[in-house]
Amino acid sequence: MSETPAIEAEGLVKHYGTTKALDGLDLTVGQQTVYGLLGPNGAGKTTAVRVLATLLRPDGGRARVDGHDVVAEAAVVRQTIGLTGQYAALDEYLTGRSNLVMIGRLSRLTTRAATRRADELLERFGLAEAATRAVKTYSGGMRRRLDLAASLIGNPSVLFLDEPTTGLDPTARALMWDIVRELVADGTTLLLTTQYLDEADQLADRIAVIDGGRVIAEGTPAELKASVGGQRVLLTLAEAGDAAVAVKALQAFATGSIVPNGRVSDHGDRLLEVPVIATDGLATEVLRALDAAGVGVSDIAVRSASLDDVFRTLTAAEAADEDEDKAELAEEAAV
Ligand SMILES: Nc1ncnc2c1ncn2[C@@H]1O[C@H](COP(=O)(O)OP(=O)(O)OP(=O)(O)O)[C@@H](O)[C@H]1O
Ligand SMILES: [Mg+2]
Repeated sequence: MSETPAIEAEGLVKHYGTTKALDGLDLTVGQQTVYGLLGPNGAGKTTAVRVLATLLRPDGGRARVDGHDVVAEAAVVRQTIGLTGQYAALDEYLTGRSNLVMIGRLSRLTTRAATRRADELLERFGLAEAATRAVKTYSGGMRRRLDLAASLIGNPSVLFLDEPTTGLDPTARALMWDIVRELVADGTTLLLTTQYLDEADQLADRIAVIDGGRVIAEGTPAELKASVGGQRVLLTLAEAGDAAVAVKALQAFATGSIVPNGRVSDHGDRLLEVPVIATDGLATEVLRALDAAGVGVSDIAVRSASLDDVFRTLTAAEAADEDEDKAELAEEAAV
């Protein structure tokens, strides 16, 4: 297969002053796929999108969209892509329809073609009724849809969506997901960033988890979940003071680090989460081992790993690595 990837980035570097927003980012996105970029705040997702969309010049590395270099052939790339999140491009005092027609004209469509395309998109995104109202009367969800419509005026083959559903209510989010699926069915390649792991799980064919401006894991949602251990045993200990002994007794079962599950705050350190490969009778064995160690258990449950686990495991490991680096540096400094 020698198909040109829709997006290819090699060793992208971008600094903002002393901040390294991108630190050797590599990405390959296949044609007509949905690619999810996940990462904690400040990981470099928006910076990556802006470099790929030609809005920012990288300080190092290179990237191509549909085979065209984002720096040397920026103008060609711009005609290939659509980018949302450009609210600034919308005129509050114009109607939704006029905005789309204007953007169509700016992307060199004739008035007639721009009008046709605008009406088609307004219809598709459920904005036909609001088409003749000024944008300043639109709700957040309507603006988001108009913004997406605007990015599609020029029939882009690659579309960048930076947090397309942040702040939307569940209904508006579901509608956005439907639109995304339709776009892919039509042959568009999508690069999307999101803070919602379920969204990435639902929509993305492949995902890159980025942290500190680099890709720290990549794969299909299923591969990523498998990489952090297939299942999770969730334990509620009878006594918080037993946590250390319990962790020791559970090492034999764990496929990775055992973490206190901080998500249920009212149980505090009594909650432990153990990554495991689930087998028949595992829960019984776990209970026996804890019993032998003198640890009482008030609840046990087994569930599949989620992208949330992937995210927490990976970003926790990165943070631990950093701490180790810092400790090493401190040691060296002390010598
Ligand atoms: N214009 C800028 N000037 C200075 N620093 C910036 C600028 N834009 C981003 N940064 C810094 O670069 C790093 C990466 O930021 P970026 O916006 O790409 O992250 P992100 O992954 O999109 O985060 P979020 O999830 O919060 O949107 C951060 O440390 C951020 O503070
Ligand atoms: Mg961002």
